[in-house]
Amino acid sequence: MLRVLLLLSLFSSALIGAVISHEEKGEWSCDSDLDIRVAAGFRPGLVTLDGHADDWKDIDGFEFSLLPALDPDAENEYKAGKLTVKALHDGHDMFFLVQVDGDYVYSKGNNNKCPSVALMFQIGESATYHRMGGCADGPDSCTNKTCKGHEVDIMHFSIGNAIPGRLYGGNPIDNRDGNGGDRFGHLVDLYAWNPHCRYLDGLGPPASGNDTTAQNNWKGAWWHSSFNVHSGFVEEDSPYASDGQKGTYYFEFSRPLRTMDRLQQDAQFTIGGSSNMAVAFWYPLDGTPWHGSGHFSINCDWVPLDISLGSSLLTKAGSSSSTNASSIFAVLLSVVSLCASAFVGYWVFKPKSVHFTPMENL
Ligand SMILES: *[C@@H]1O[C@H](CO)[C@@H](O)[C@H](O)[C@H]1NC(C)=O
Ligand SMILES: *[C@@H]1O[C@H](CO)[C@@H](O)[C@H](O)[C@H]1NC(C)=O
Repeated sequence: MLRVLLLLSLFSSALIGAVISHEEKGEWSCDSDLDIRVAAGFRPGLVTLDGHADDWKDIDGFEFSLLPALDPDAENEYKAGKLTVKALHDGHDMFFLVQVDGDYVYSKGNNNKCPSVALMFQIGESATYHRMGGCADGPDSCTNKTCKGHEVDIMHFSIGNAIPGRLYGGNPIDNRDGNGGDRFGHLVDLYAWNPHCRYLDGLGPPASGNDTTAQNNWKGAWWHSSFNVHSGFVEEDSPYASDGQKGTYYFEFSRPLRTMDRLQQDAQFTIGGSSNMAVAFWYPLDGTPWHGSGHFSINCDWVPLDISLGSSLLTKAGSSSSTNASSIFAVLLSVVSLCASAFVGYWVFKPKSVHFTPMENL
C-alpha cells in the first residue's frame, strides 16, 4: 500500500513537473545541468574563417540537444541531430564553430526558409537568458536607463542572401553608418533588453536615440557538407546543391575579444575569464518558414564560456603539469648555472697559471 502511494505521489509530481515545463506565461522553470560549459582554448593560427570545419577537427566540441526555446520539452526536440559548439581564441579574436545535422534546404532571398543561427551573450549583470535580458519594460518604455543592467549581445546570421564560403558581417559600408547592420549577408550585431526591445548596435528606441559610434564586430561564413565545389561559389550558383540532401550545416564566426563599444551593446571577453552564452537555431521544418520566436536552443539557461590562458582545454590538468615542467626547468637552469660558474672560475684562474708558467721559465 505504501509502495502504491509512493508510486502515485511520484507519478503526480512528474505530471506537475511536465505541466510546469509547458507553461510559457507562468513560472519559468529550468533545470540547467551545472556541468555544461563551452571551453575556448588558446589556439593561434589554426582556423580560417571560410565555413569549412576541417581545421577544427582536433578541437573538442560540446554537444547539445536542441529543444524549442519557448517550450523546452524533450518530445519537441530537433530530431535531425545534436548541435555541436566549438570555440577557441588566438589572443585577439574569439572563434566559434556551430555544427548541426540537417537536410539541405535553401531558398534564395527568403531567410525564413533557410536555416539560421544566433549567438547570445550576457552583458549586463542582471541580464537573464530567459526573455533575452529579462527587462520588464515593454517597447514603449524600455530605454538604456529603465533597462540598465539587462543588456544582452546577439549575433544573428540569416543565410538567405549569403553565398556559402563567403565572408559576411562587419563591412566598411555598414560600419561607416555606425551600426551593427550587414546589408550583404545579414550577419548582424544586435543588443537587446528583452525580446521586444531588440536593436541593431547603435540604434535604439526614441528615448535612447541612435549613436553612430557603433560597429558590427562579427564576421562569419556558412557551409553544408553536401556541397562538392570547394571554392568560389557565386550568387548565380544558388541553390548551390539540390534540396533535401542529407548532411551537416556549418556556421563559423569570429569577433575581437574586445570591441570599441561605449554603449554597453557588446559583450567583452577576457582571456582567463568566463562569459555566459547561448546558441539558437532556426530550421524550416517540413518547408514551413520559421518565425522569430520559433527557434531551438542549446539550453534553458546561460551556458558558461571559459576562455583559457593556455592551449590546453583541461585547464586544471594543464596548470599542474606546467608547474611540474617549470620546476624541472628551474632545477635544470640551476645545474646549468652551477656548471657555468665552475667553468668561469676555472677560466679566470687558468690564464694566470698559463701566464705564470713563462715567468717561472724565464
Ligand atoms: C543612453 O543613450 C544615449 C544615446 O546613445 C546616451 O547619450 C546616454 O548617455 C545613454 N544613457 C545611459 C544611462 O547609458
Ligand atoms: C535611428 O535610426 C533609425 C534607422 O536609421 C531611424 O529609423 C530612427 O528614426 C532613428 N531614431 C532617432 C531617434 O533618430
